[in-house]
Amino acid sequence: MSGRAPEVWIGDDATAVAREGARRIAEWARRCIAARGRFLVALSGGNTPRKLHRCLATEEPGIDWRRVFVFFSDERCVPHDSPDSNFRMARETLLDHVPIPASQIFPVATDRSPAEAASAYEATLRSVLDAGEPRIDAVLLGMGPDGHTASIFPGSRLLAGFDDDFLIDDPSTGPLSSSRPAANLDAFAKERLIAEVLDAPKPPPHRVTMTPYFINLSRHVIVLVSGEDKVAAVSAALESDARVSEIPIRAVSPTAGDLAWLLDRRAARALGSPPI
Ligand code: 6PG
Repeated sequence: MSGRAPEVWIGDDATAVAREGARRIAEWARRCIAARGRFLVALSGGNTPRKLHRCLATEEPGIDWRRVFVFFSDERCVPHDSPDSNFRMARETLLDHVPIPASQIFPVATDRSPAEAASAYEATLRSVLDAGEPRIDAVLLGMGPDGHTASIFPGSRLLAGFDDDFLIDDPSTGPLSSSRPAANLDAFAKERLIAEVLDAPKPPPHRVTMTPYFINLSRHVIVLVSGEDKVAAVSAALESDARVSEIPIRAVSPTAGDLAWLLDRRAARALGSPPI
């Protein structure tokens, strides 16, 4: 993982992790709204964020939701009312319980093909981002037991170029072949922000995901991980020199932002060095 070392925060249990994540997001929201008049946040999928969403909806009264814009770091290509939908999970646990204008919630158009949905989502994202400094304020991420994050799985072409010898010259990766493009507007115009996934090993296989490039443009990234089943991936991500193509979350290293891992004691059990 290149860039500055991430912060590692360890809480007693999943509830403590959720509360800490909600506290940080609420603080960032206040600061970003004060500085730029709005707060752009990308929510994660899976189950871990549920508790954090409920904390945001019930324990953080200081967020001015009228100035919050919500995106998704990834989405499964299923109907929005499917139990597998990340948008449905976010609605049930947060969005239906806070006064955020519907026009400021951006679900992925999952009624289209994955490629069309990705292309449309990227266009929407580009239309909302600040043209002068196109970055999201905060991105929430989870991690699977295999080290995947968002819908970036081991061996993904989205990881081209992160390892010295992984797909670096593969023509199929196209503009994705440069792992660390400059964080400037020329690169931003060319790079993919959103990509389709057709072979996710975690069902469903068809998904849409933010790319590592775009995630790394964020001002703040938090990775929420809890549970015994993540122990090996946490150690591999934070305390090994595993290849990025094998442990995709190692691609997450904000170019000019901060990264914090919020772990419960179970997930952090095998970490050797105490948190900084
Ligand atoms: C998804 C998620 C995915 C998730 C991890 C962890 O859409 O599946 O974005 O990356 O964050 O698989 O999932 P859990 O929180 O359920 O363990």
